[in-house]
Amino acid sequence: MHARRASSFGGQAAAYAEHRPDYPRTALEWGMAGAGHQVRDVLDLAAGTGKLTAGLVATGRTVTAVEPDAEMLAELTRLLPDVPARLGRAEDIPLPDGSVDAVFVGQALHWFDLPAAFAEIHRVLRPGGVLAALWNHQDESVAWANEFSRLLHAGVNRGVTDGEQHLNAAGFEPFEKSEFPHSHRRTTDSLLATVSTHSALLVAEPADRAQLLARARAYLDAVPETASGEFDYPLRTIVARLRRS
Ligand SMILES: C[S@@+](CC[C@H](N)C(=O)[O-])C[C@H]1O[C@@H](n2cnc3c(N)ncnc32)[C@H](O)[C@@H]1O
Repeated sequence: MHARRASSFGGQAAAYAEHRPDYPRTALEWGMAGAGHQVRDVLDLAAGTGKLTAGLVATGRTVTAVEPDAEMLAELTRLLPDVPARLGRAEDIPLPDGSVDAVFVGQALHWFDLPAAFAEIHRVLRPGGVLAALWNHQDESVAWANEFSRLLHAGVNRGVTDGEQHLNAAGFEPFEKSEFPHSHRRTTDSLLATVSTHSALLVAEPADRAQLLARARAYLDAVPETASGEFDYPLRTIVARLRRS
């Protein structure tokens, strides 16, 4: 099931690009600041359709994207034609040794075979370079969003961020973690489109998916915060950063 979910995104690449949230600039800068030197060259690993890539490009760095799913990568290239984009996996990164100052991973570290991926990330980073892994989670302090997420059982896999011991790796200094407030402007329809791009729903049986979405829609229609028009879906962007020794 893990592998099926990890490779479930490509069939929905256009919806993914349209409906997934981006990442706050402050979170990207905090990740970069974990390096022991100025960050010039950045790898966006598991880049998907380029949600994180676009934010990294906006910081003025030179960005390369690597992604194993051809449909996701095609969408990235359509949206960001100037970004060098390579097909490849975290466990076998198609870049030379010591070629980047930072490796960013958006919403994907939990899909990797971590020992193999850490070894590869270590190889492509220059000494003193940084690995920054980001996740957008719903803000659990907001009651309606918490209940919505609970109803749907479609939150991202938090195995990695919850089990922090997984984040320490040979050849890296101990990880540091921080959180940043974020939000995603949504309507009922577009929020349901967003959650429909989560792997748990992508791999669900059609009847189960339809039932979950109907239940979620009924909830959003009943809650004052979301019942009419646009609203901010509250997020926390979690960043874990590890400096390469
Ligand atoms: C939830 S998406 C995140 C995409 C993008 N980083 C973002 O923030 O929107 C997860 C991505 O991880 C990719 N992926 C899954 N397993 C991977 C692996 N072993 N190595 C590299 N990428 C992987 C998937 O193809 C998918 O594009």
